Amino acid sequence: MTHPPTHHVHVHVRLRDGGSALLRPLAGGEVSVVEAVFEGLSSQSRRRRFLVPMPRLPGGHRRTLADVDGDRHVAWVALVHGIPVGLCRFVRTSADSAELAFEVVDEHQGRGIGSALVDAVTTVARDRGITWLEATVEPGNAASEALLARAGVRLVAADGLLEGRGTPRAVRWSSPVNPRAVLALAAQPASSSSTAAATSSSWRSEPCLATS
Ligand SMILES: CC(C)(COP(=O)(O)OP(=O)(O)OC[C@H]1O[C@@H](n2cnc3c(N)ncnc32)[C@H](O)[C@@H]1OP(=O)(O)O)[C@@H](O)C(=O)NCCC(=O)NCCS
Repeated sequence: MTHPPTHHVHVHVRLRDGGSALLRPLAGGEVSVVEAVFEGLSSQSRRRRFLVPMPRLPGGHRRTLADVDGDRHVAWVALVHGIPVGLCRFVRTSADSAELAFEVVDEHQGRGIGSALVDAVTTVARDRGITWLEATVEPGNAASEALLARAGVRLVAADGLLEGRGTPRAVRWSSPVNPRAVLALAAQPASSSSTAAATSSSWRSEPCLATS
């Protein structure tokens, strides 16, 4: 008897507090995931993410943030109990450079989800030939500074912000993410991600949809 090939639709991550999360690539057009994560961000987290006050996410931003194609724009989502709780993305600015950005809903910050997402996305970036990652953050955003250092980005003060670039680092041996599993999932055809997207739509009916 022959079995169809097995496609893994998530990468499992063990979190610092013993909990777990699942990571997968965002599929093109998954606006509902972008919205769910935005809804779970406090006003401070929103401002830190977008560098301006952002009480609501305009429709154009939602579509742009979900307009991933697996090459120019790559985003990964973290799910806890099926609910989207964080995103990390790179957007190419040239053939070998890309901007890195990330956010984790306040309720789940400090658990290692941001680190796992950054490790996954920098792994894909390295694999896709990106040799420079760029990022801009507000001064005083210690968690983001730590994540960018982890990714290989060195920040310097510029016009009241912190801006930086650096070569994406290989993930540490102690990473919560298995880079081979990340690359295997990233290499799967978009239809597999769509399957994951369809599966993940169940988060809408989760009872604990309190903050995301
Ligand atoms: C930045 C952010 C994504 C971090 O996500 P997270 O899931 O809390 O990150 P982790 O739990 O993996 O922690 C990452 C690092 O930050 C540190 N950290 C976490 N929260 C912190 C805090 N409040 N103060 C200082 N350091 C903090 C952790 O100790 C860890 O550092 P380490 O690896 O040296 O131990 C999250 O705080 C966030 O969404 N902030 C708002 C959006 C934003 O600022 N985006 C950046 C602009 S693109």
